[in-house]
Amino acid sequence: MSTPTTSHATVSGLAPVKPDELDPEERMPRPELEALQLERLQQTVRHAYEHVPLYTRKFDEAGVQPGDIRSLSDVAKLPFTTKADLRETYPFGMFAVPMEQVARIHASSGTTGRPTVVGYTKGDLDHWATLVARSLRASGIRPGMKVHNAYGYGLFTGGLGAHAGIEKLGATVIPMSGGQTTRQVQLIVDFEPDAILCTPSYLLTIADCMVEQGVDPRSTSLKVAVLGAEPWTNEMRHELEQRLGIDALDIYGLSEVMGPGVGNECLETKDGPHIWEDHFLPEIIDGETGAQLPDGEMGELVFTSLTKEAFPVIRYRTRDLTRLLPGTARPGMRRIEKITGRNDDMIILRGVNLFPTQIEELVLGIDELTPHFILELTHAGTMDELTVRIERHPDREPKVGERAAVVLAKRIKDHIGSSVAVHVEEPGTLPRSEGKLKRVYDLRD
Ligand code: DLL
Repeated sequence: MSTPTTSHATVSGLAPVKPDELDPEERMPRPELEALQLERLQQTVRHAYEHVPLYTRKFDEAGVQPGDIRSLSDVAKLPFTTKADLRETYPFGMFAVPMEQVARIHASSGTTGRPTVVGYTKGDLDHWATLVARSLRASGIRPGMKVHNAYGYGLFTGGLGAHAGIEKLGATVIPMSGGQTTRQVQLIVDFEPDAILCTPSYLLTIADCMVEQGVDPRSTSLKVAVLGAEPWTNEMRHELEQRLGIDALDIYGLSEVMGPGVGNECLETKDGPHIWEDHFLPEIIDGETGAQLPDGEMGELVFTSLTKEAFPVIRYRTRDLTRLLPGTARPGMRRIEKITGRNDDMIILRGVNLFPTQIEELVLGIDELTPHFILELTHAGTMDELTVRIERHPDREPKVGERAAVVLAKRIKDHIGSSVAVHVEEPGTLPRSEGKLKRVYDLRD
């Protein structure tokens, strides 16, 4: 896991937000914020218990009633909610308001089974837009700037979620959606946006396409990128900042809890997303035992929503692995360490746990190779094997690429403890991301 950086100079020269531009909640002293959280937690727990049969049943089975929540630490008495609960109640069984009050539905496709469906009242949409606006402002974006939104529009929460926040902030939205990369580059050149919103892997695709189109990635009007929806490392931040001459900020969120904007990094510190704790109560638990872990310890991130009407979530298990850290740029709100892995992405290779981001970190330290790589899992005899397929840098000879592959295999062995095969591919031959990147291909039967 990469360690968070504690301070970063801004690349673009953008100024961080001034105290008088912040929402009042962003300035709240911790005790005041916690009082607000408790009041909202009690309301949410009651609302969920009274309006969602699944919560009624689960609370009753656990022998806990809404009245038992008298302090924030009492949240630990409540049962967890998982993706399986959402599947069981597909499509609308966890909505806590009548359908007439649901103003919007989103869904995440998921890799297996039914999609996860979530709903929002008008009030929920308003809070969401406020929190995305807050996130973008923390990233250095201001009213009057132009924002190129390349998160996918549609059922995915990225596009429309970011869109509403850009408008709420008073910036100009360019609703590009994902894909059509050549056109994205043309419109970045012609419309001169100040900011771009997309996944980190897609920004890499866009930067490569700029080079193909004869556009110097450092020459554009872009000053800042707000990147999320997939794990990425501080090494990737550095790579993107240098290649594009921008500041790259991390936006975190998930559909079940709201969508983008559950938390966001601040430009002045770039040290992991601050969680907007006036709307979400985070916890870290031991993924195996379910026990709550103290701040600072690594585990699975769990959220309870504090203001959601249509789709309240109680102790939702995200499967994202991180730890809670004290607030810095917003001292009242806690941060999470930049998420570098999900439970679901973890590869267990001959007993060693490995995350694709650990390979990303090592790859970015080798100039002869590019950050374009995939991981293939195969079965050789009784053993699992992992092959890293990675593109050589377009300016380097194949022989140089082969030597770099040996270096990469050795670094993986030294740092992670796994023996892997590294295959160097021709530049431009591996699949390119247009949204969330698929890194791991499991070719075992
Ligand atoms: O990806 C929401 C989003 C859109 C966030 C745009 C940021 C920007 P889902 O499709 O439900 O929602 O996927 C949520 O994506 O549980 C994490 O595993 C991962 N994820 C999201 N943001 C980050 C991030 C959107 N900044 C899942 N860093 C989450 C690492 C992230 N992983």
